[in-house]
Amino acid sequence: MTEVGTAPVVKRWWHGMVAYQIYPRSFKDSNGDGVGDLRGIIEKLGYIASLGVDIIWISPIFVSPFIDNGYDVADYRKISPVYGTLEDFDELLVKAKELGLYVILDLVINHCSDQHPLFRKALSDPQAPEREFFYFVKGHNDAPPDNLRSYFGGSVWERVPGEDNLYYLHTYAKEQPDFNWYNPRLRERIYEMINWWLDRGVAGFRIDAIMNIVKDTSFKGLPPDEQGDGSCAAAALIPHLAYTAPMLLDELKARTFGPRDAFTVAEAFGLGDDVIGRFIGDDGCFSTVFDFTARQSIDQDRPGYYAYPQGTIKLYRDGNFSMQKKSNALGFVAPLLENHDEPRAVSFYLKPHQRNAQGAKALATVFMFLRGIPFIYQGQELGMTSPKFESIDEFDDLQTHDEYHKALRHGLTPQEALALMNVHSRDLSRTPMIWDDGPAGGFTTGTPWIRPHQDIAILNARAQECDPASVLNHYRALIRLRRDPQIAPCVTYGRFEEVAEAGDEVICYRRFSESVTIEVAANFSDEEIKFRLTPDSQVLLSSGDGANLNDGILTLAPLASCVVTIK
Ligand code: NOJ
Repeated sequence: MTEVGTAPVVKRWWHGMVAYQIYPRSFKDSNGDGVGDLRGIIEKLGYIASLGVDIIWISPIFVSPFIDNGYDVADYRKISPVYGTLEDFDELLVKAKELGLYVILDLVINHCSDQHPLFRKALSDPQAPEREFFYFVKGHNDAPPDNLRSYFGGSVWERVPGEDNLYYLHTYAKEQPDFNWYNPRLRERIYEMINWWLDRGVAGFRIDAIMNIVKDTSFKGLPPDEQGDGSCAAAALIPHLAYTAPMLLDELKARTFGPRDAFTVAEAFGLGDDVIGRFIGDDGCFSTVFDFTARQSIDQDRPGYYAYPQGTIKLYRDGNFSMQKKSNALGFVAPLLENHDEPRAVSFYLKPHQRNAQGAKALATVFMFLRGIPFIYQGQELGMTSPKFESIDEFDDLQTHDEYHKALRHGLTPQEALALMNVHSRDLSRTPMIWDDGPAGGFTTGTPWIRPHQDIAILNARAQECDPASVLNHYRALIRLRRDPQIAPCVTYGRFEEVAEAGDEVICYRRFSESVTIEVAANFSDEEIKFRLTPDSQVLLSSGDGANLNDGILTLAPLASCVVTIK
């Protein structure tokens, strides 16, 4: 045990680490078919290691019909031929290990694909025991069992063909039927599969949509929300049911991750203050959970993209700070700026004139020293912006198409709806990683599965490699600084405290351990700002033109950022 100026915590191997998310479809294509693959990842392991990160999370690589880009798994123990083979994966594990990288996989266990043999059997044979592995429920008077709405639009219930008044449940697309976690035999099968991957050498998992496994099996639905068609978003159930999840999740951990000391990061939305402590911390169900607080202040309880506010730096800061303060006493969260479900942070949170390398570096500085395990999403380290899609047909994501039509129904013109998709779509972060300024940014020699970013001249890894002032090299410097033995214990375990007096367009906080205090600040306003520190304070790292510390007065020009030790 160590006293950390917060709660006492048991030290774990993953404390202090930095993770990097790979969206395999868009990372690196090795065979010219336009889709990224495992050999492409192997080729780029040296690049990933050069960032200084420790853990790689690879989004789903399993056999799938790709209705939701692999978040619809048809065989959990086979690699999709689109990505390669199990041998490729084993090689990736070995090579990653040689470079000191831990690999975690995406565990999609709230639902599978409708092509999974268990579901096919369940659908085709009413007497099959597999039917109990899913939710098959009778409707009422020719209507579905309840009024809940799927995350991708429409009812969560799909009618079973050839059967009278019977429906199956899918919280996401109809091709993603939900598993019935209350069935012990189903749970056993899931545990076996997880242990099979752990035996193969994966260090843990990112766990998809896990809060959706808890259900109100009376299926009475919820009062209609603002969508206006009598339905209510399925997500609205989570806050009511979250406290019941540990009943299932403690067993999951005890049978799989716990005994192997695996690292787990859960996609767990909607956790109220009363339950979050059960999810993270020494005895938590998971090692950590992503901090979606900022994101939730945009999408929670809003009927669609058309009602989302534009992100602002204040929104990002306030969301993160509120969770940071709570996590001091509870455990480790996983802060993020981007992932494959969100637009690029530079475009979303910054004002148009700030969407450049300076802005990306300032965001990076204040992101990398938050308390917890930061997850960097591929391309974030290059300061990638959201690309511009020219027509709705260029979007691949099923949710984007649903949101587009929703926006039209809401009265937006096609141009307005397209503009909205260019702000919020999940595809904005899914365009190919940009490796160089060649065709398709060096991602593929073929035709990329989704249109590439239009701006590859600066936003490419090769150009940034050679530029000491690039966003890429700034990320490397930040990660190196986190590891500086003088401040590393403070960065990992130190208490978080907000520095509030600086105004709405400034992110500023301190981290405290027994012997070290650091202050991290970035100025997103258009005016110079000044902070009074102690006279012996020292700048450890800065970005932008104009981060100066003289006689204890720290001056930050617009878009400048810095990390300071306070003596
Ligand atoms: C969350 C994943 O991040 C997202 O991409 C996916 O569509 C849903 N879960 C369903 O698996």
